[in-house]
Amino acid sequence: MTKNALITGITGQDGSYLAELLLQKGYQVHGLVRRSSTFSTERIDHIYQDVHEHPKLLLHYGDLTDGQALSNLVLEIEPDEIYNLGAQSHVRVSFDQPIYTLQTIGVGALNVLEAARLLNKKKEVRVYQASSSEMYGDVMAVPQNETTPFNPQSPYACAKVYAFHQTVNYRRSYGMFASNGILFNHESERRGETFVTRKITRAAGRIKMGMQEKLYLGNLDAKRDWGYAKDYVEGMWRILQHSAPDDFVLATGRTETVRDFAKLVFQQLDMNYEDYVEIDPRYFRPAEVDLLLGDPSKAKEKLGWVASTNFEELARIMTEHDLEIAKREAHAKRFVPH
Ligand code: NAP
Ligand code: GDD
Repeated sequence: MTKNALITGITGQDGSYLAELLLQKGYQVHGLVRRSSTFSTERIDHIYQDVHEHPKLLLHYGDLTDGQALSNLVLEIEPDEIYNLGAQSHVRVSFDQPIYTLQTIGVGALNVLEAARLLNKKKEVRVYQASSSEMYGDVMAVPQNETTPFNPQSPYACAKVYAFHQTVNYRRSYGMFASNGILFNHESERRGETFVTRKITRAAGRIKMGMQEKLYLGNLDAKRDWGYAKDYVEGMWRILQHSAPDDFVLATGRTETVRDFAKLVFQQLDMNYEDYVEIDPRYFRPAEVDLLLGDPSKAKEKLGWVASTNFEELARIMTEHDLEIAKREAHAKRFVPH
């Protein structure tokens, strides 16, 4: 039997990799896409299929804040699995847009759970909630696992804590298959360009090609547990295939500073980061999460999941990819007629 999945946030980094993975596994995939005046489907254009040719990937307009339309959609397509990845996902931006962040993340998750509860009366649907290591905030223990208390430090993290607890609440109250993946930072060549790793690899490529002089960053001493997004979407899928709903940390078990990442990326391009990186306080946050380090042993034991790509490989994949983009940009620039 072909399985049917709905992905919110399909145009994002994780949504695009998850869609690829589910298509490979033979799923019928549905994706929720926000209408905008320009296309936002760049990350999934390569897997898009014409609607007239019985496609395995179908996109639907919708917004997580519009619960009615979301319920209508879920009742219409009757997914076996829903992956709720949609969010205003930038921590710094959440300080500027706290209410909108809560609407997309908190109310958004509740809208997904309510839609699933309605469908669940007819058939079982499994829900994955994209929870975050950011919820640990000013950490209460090192490393962090599924029993570490949350101590959020941003509007983003507070909203994610709300969504986490509602997911557990729906599991307990209605017996639904609703699970949280508590994912530590995961990056890729598809990472949004304002997150720090991609900001660094994009800038390093451009600097190498002589198209940029400086890179302005904020706190270089923050430590993160960084993995590769492709590994993490496999973990999301495994969480929903598990015999029972539960909450799982997905992480590498290794932490490095922002400075370490920058140093490595510039080194890979035979440059010294200290010659190019400058600190701009505008990138500091009103409250900072200093140290994230995950303990993924539960996921390893129960799901057989491990993060297979290490920090050095991740930096290499992203650096090489973004150097190629910079080369193309530099080449295109040379031929711009004046
Ligand atoms: P991302 O690249 O920023 O993608 C976010 C997705 O959410 C995009 O498809 C975006 O659509 C969509 N979206 C935003 N607001 C929406 C709304 N109101 N209604 C419907 N869709 C909306 O994020 P990501 O890195 O793939 O992360 C996926 C999820 O995992 C997010 O919930 C994030 O908070 C969470 N998470 C990420 C990490 C990480 O390290 N990447 C770690 C832990 C948890 P547009 O393309 O139209 O903007
Ligand atoms: N974005 C950004 N830009 N961050 C910077 C900069 C900069 O110029 N300079 C230093 N940093 C530091 C931030 O202060 C933070 O400590 C660290 O780099 C990582 O920042 P981000 O890459 O923006 O990610 P994040 O850790 O805040 O949030 C990401 O990971 C969470 C999981 O822990 C996002 O993907 C969240 O959606 C996710 O939940």
